Amino acid sequence: MSYRVRKCVFPVGGMGTRFLPATKAMPKEMLPIVDKPLIQYAVEEAIIAGIEHFIFVTGRGKTALEDHFDHAPDLERTLREHGKNMEIEAVTSWMPKSGQISYTRQQEPLGLGHAVWCARDLVNNEPFAVILPDDLILAKTSCIKQLINAYKEVGGNIVAVADVPREQTKRYGILDIMTDNGHLVRAKGLIEKPDPSKVPSTLSIIGRYILHPKVFAFLDKQIHGANNEIQLTDAIAKTIDSVPLYGLRFSGRRFDCGDKVGWLHANLAFAMNRIDMCEQMMEVLKEFK
Ligand code: G1P
Repeated sequence: MSYRVRKCVFPVGGMGTRFLPATKAMPKEMLPIVDKPLIQYAVEEAIIAGIEHFIFVTGRGKTALEDHFDHAPDLERTLREHGKNMEIEAVTSWMPKSGQISYTRQQEPLGLGHAVWCARDLVNNEPFAVILPDDLILAKTSCIKQLINAYKEVGGNIVAVADVPREQTKRYGILDIMTDNGHLVRAKGLIEKPDPSKVPSTLSIIGRYILHPKVFAFLDKQIHGANNEIQLTDAIAKTIDSVPLYGLRFSGRRFDCGDKVGWLHANLAFAMNRIDMCEQMMEVLKEFK
């Protein structure tokens, strides 16, 4: 088995009901943060981390995602004719090369574990990364790169983690902590969307994972867990005896772009982070004081 993390799975089959009507005819992963769709942030984060193969687990109505990662000959020709070199760069420079992206469809919405399981033959027998594009992370070092760096040191399964308020734990996968050095946590258990009164900690999984292919052996069983869905968390928990589980307190700021307020917040934060926009944004924000 290769120990290098070369492949990354992007589960992008979700319907985006929380953003209707915006997502009626457009995948939620195409929602922009300033001027770039969420999915592009996720792919760029993986490229910086040295990922060589990008596996999209899509669903019905998601062809705009495939088009986004393909050449747009008419657009590029028009831009070239008008000498708009910066714009050509903006639409092409980040594209993975032909053959570096694979698409497979999740035919039924059976949960995150099921979505990742759909990629099993494309991943094959090697460690792989998973990025949930809804979780957008503003960081100096790509979050998935931080996880890969930790993986090089300790191996196992690694998830990005952050503390959340206790009442929010029912939205996340929560770690049961064995040891904690403030940066890296070794977990002895993991539970999906627990009731706040029964949580082993408030340390939650944020949508970044480095996983051992052994998780597929459990996902093969198609066991339904929390919310009657096939949960990735359960597969990681079930392999904990043979594959140690670590949580990495990553450095960076996470925005939950699966939520309207989180998405708006991300737009503000990313705009304020851009030198070409921050002054104008400061002026706009004064209006709302
Ligand atoms: C998924 C995972 C959960 C994780 C969360 C992070 O939940 O199942 O363990 O904490 O992503 O965003 P979902 O947001 O799909 O309900």
